[in-house]
Amino acid sequence: MKKIVVLPGDGIGLEIIAEAKKIITVLQEHYGFVAEIEEAYIGGAGYDHAGHPFPEETKVLAQAADAILLGAVGGPQYEALPRELRPERGLLAIRSELDLFSNLRPALLYEELANASSLKPEIVSNLDIMIVRELTGGIYFGEPRGIRTLENGEREGYNTLVYKESEIERIAHSAFAIAIKRDKRLCSVDKANVLEVSELWREVMIRVGKDYPEVELSHMYVDNAAMQLVKDPKQFDVMVTKNLFGDVLSDAAAMLTGSIGMLPSASLDSHGKGMYEPIHGSAPDIAGKGIANPLATILSVSMMLRYSLDNIDLADRVEAAVKSVLKKGLRTADIYEQGTTQVGTVEMGDAVVAELLR
Ligand code: IPM
Ligand code: MG
Repeated sequence: MKKIVVLPGDGIGLEIIAEAKKIITVLQEHYGFVAEIEEAYIGGAGYDHAGHPFPEETKVLAQAADAILLGAVGGPQYEALPRELRPERGLLAIRSELDLFSNLRPALLYEELANASSLKPEIVSNLDIMIVRELTGGIYFGEPRGIRTLENGEREGYNTLVYKESEIERIAHSAFAIAIKRDKRLCSVDKANVLEVSELWREVMIRVGKDYPEVELSHMYVDNAAMQLVKDPKQFDVMVTKNLFGDVLSDAAAMLTGSIGMLPSASLDSHGKGMYEPIHGSAPDIAGKGIANPLATILSVSMMLRYSLDNIDLADRVEAAVKSVLKKGLRTADIYEQGTTQVGTVEMGDAVVAELLR
């Protein structure tokens, strides 16, 4: 039986995961979906319950799982903790421990939300970009790192941006394999005009590209890519980039779709095991208020069914249910506009459940 580990985490993570769990229950009770679900702590909740943002028992469960569904981590109450105990470290640790190197971040605009975008509707209509972000290497993990005191007493912070050829190769294969199933255009984003790492990155992308002649590979410097994303985002199909650049570009791309509250993500290892999470954070400012948008998390369930649980049919159904709810005009506060009906987190989850039960 497939095993799913659910990690609500912190802040709005608890509220949005509660809605995602309702969806999973409906799939189990009405669609013959079979899976064993377990829940564990991560992030600040991990620290509160077990003294560590990625507790040992969470690690054991996650390692044995076929898929992991995560809410969000972080909160102001944890900011004073030593760096290695902060919630974000839990997230980085699970990515790294499970070798979830391939992070898929789709930026998909739902027709109904075209007016919620900060860009003109004609620039973003039908937008459908997939950002493939390398997730377990680069400057996020490179050694040496730290803050040291120089001889003159001044402190200096330092991090290391490193990529081995094998790390670039595997993310390249991941991105090309996705591009083949889409519009067959892959843009590799780098900073090869300045960084040696990027020079190697580009060289390896070109080399791996020879295995995928049907995919059109292009290259773009990251500064230009940021500009092009807000100027003419529809020129992109799939983008592949390093950990840090992907972090930045995926937030920008998310905003094009109207709300960061709409976008799911997948982080995969080389065997298709994955962790699924909304790309937004724990939003401490609205936590506990019942107004967070659960749709990114519900769509993460859909991605989980598609990429790790081989259930494309149910993945499509969950997506269709989300679309119907939007079509009916239901909106959480982040995507509300005049003429639509504002609902809270629970009502939005219930509406998706109702669609699935129709
Ligand atoms: C993300 C987040 C994380 C990251 C943080 C919370 C560590 O911003 O998933 O994009 O930087 O990767
Ligand atoms: Mg980020």
